[in-house]
Amino acid sequence: MTFGKKFREDKFLFPKDATPINHGSYGAVPKRVYETYKKWLHKDFQFPDEFMHFFQAQEMEKSLKVVSKLVNTDYKNLAFVPNATSGVNVVFRSFPFQKGDTIVISSVIYDACGNTIDFAARRNGVNLKIVDITFPMSEKTVLSRFEATFKQVLETKKTGSQVVCIYDAICSMPGCRMPFERITELCRRYGIVSCIDGAHSIGMIPIDIQAIGCDFYTSNLHKWLYLPRGCAILYVTPKFHDAIMPFPISHSYKDQEFYKRFLFTASNNYSSFYCIPEALKFVNEDCGGFDKIRSYCRKQGNGIIAHFGTDHLVSVTEPSADDLNFMVTVKVDLPKDKQEFFARSFKNKQFENEVRDFVLSDLLRKSRTFVQFGWHNNFLFVRFSCQIYTDLQEYFWGYDQFLKELDRFYASDLFQKWNNRSACTSRCCKL
Ligand SMILES: Cc1ncc(COP(=O)(O)O)c(C=O)c1O
Repeated sequence: MTFGKKFREDKFLFPKDATPINHGSYGAVPKRVYETYKKWLHKDFQFPDEFMHFFQAQEMEKSLKVVSKLVNTDYKNLAFVPNATSGVNVVFRSFPFQKGDTIVISSVIYDACGNTIDFAARRNGVNLKIVDITFPMSEKTVLSRFEATFKQVLETKKTGSQVVCIYDAICSMPGCRMPFERITELCRRYGIVSCIDGAHSIGMIPIDIQAIGCDFYTSNLHKWLYLPRGCAILYVTPKFHDAIMPFPISHSYKDQEFYKRFLFTASNNYSSFYCIPEALKFVNEDCGGFDKIRSYCRKQGNGIIAHFGTDHLVSVTEPSADDLNFMVTVKVDLPKDKQEFFARSFKNKQFENEVRDFVLSDLLRKSRTFVQFGWHNNFLFVRFSCQIYTDLQEYFWGYDQFLKELDRFYASDLFQKWNNRSACTSRCCKL
């Protein structure tokens, strides 16, 4: 088997004219997993009474056991949730917070999860502490910033109050791998409850929950394990099994083991979860196993870095262990005037929405590709997702289309509008 564009045409559903280099956002489903998904849907919709009685919870439990082997924990510590955002919501809406507790987050937390934490903190009278992280940053600095924050919180906290820290396995934008195993060690050392947002982890990087030793961990399976969307897991350490409730709280609220509460959370379509064994068959039979996938994607990542230059790489630098990451983020070189324009304009969320819509709509319609981009630490970046279904050259082609799109943007009325606005010094334009 040879990975690359031909593999995509044989094994995936993408239209022939598409150049998909952004797997990280929504994942992609192989044909054989999609076929299995349709079979489960049909089985369910054909005779719901029979399906719900004989298959629904039973198949969920079977899949949970399969995943538990993949991440090295007892399946009874795992629950199915529709996505990582839900995993984080389940934890922070259920956790037994008390007034005066503290939640520590990083400045690069995923927006949706940041909102969840904001809600939990306000609702419970909990303090919020933010660890400032900007990339590129050395692993040592990342760790020392977390540690300094932990020490500060512990020095001032009331006796008996709790501290919970949430941090990413791999951040979203830029797509940088965090030293999450070592942040977890710090949490343990300082008696802080640890929650890993591993939205991008299972399938991409090996995960051994027992070895990591965290309290909570959530990962999508619909990104890097090739499942249809709506498929994620949540790990909860036994100490918190009784406290953590699904959303919605449903029939299984009382007298049930933790994992059982999540097997049926009200009437819904659970078909993605039943496809987990099939996704693993795809990995093993069609791809030759995770090692083969990882080595191809690592090679692609190295190819991208070599093309743009290590000085353009946006990551956690000087890692103390393997920092395999299928998402590669690189800085975009800009002329001085455009650099200043973006620096001014990206301060405004509306600008970000408008420029992303302009560039990405055109890219999708005209070039049939999608190049994730954003602004961080005073530079424009693009994020590529390495995958078994792309050829290396496709990233560079996609990047060229992105640069052409930027040129179209500079010639557009939208650019004029924001350029005039950001150049204007009157108060109304600054609001
Ligand atoms: C770090 C991080 N957390 C959470 C999410 C949310 O994933 P989902 O939309 O599947 O819940 C993402 C999505 O990319 C992410 O990158």
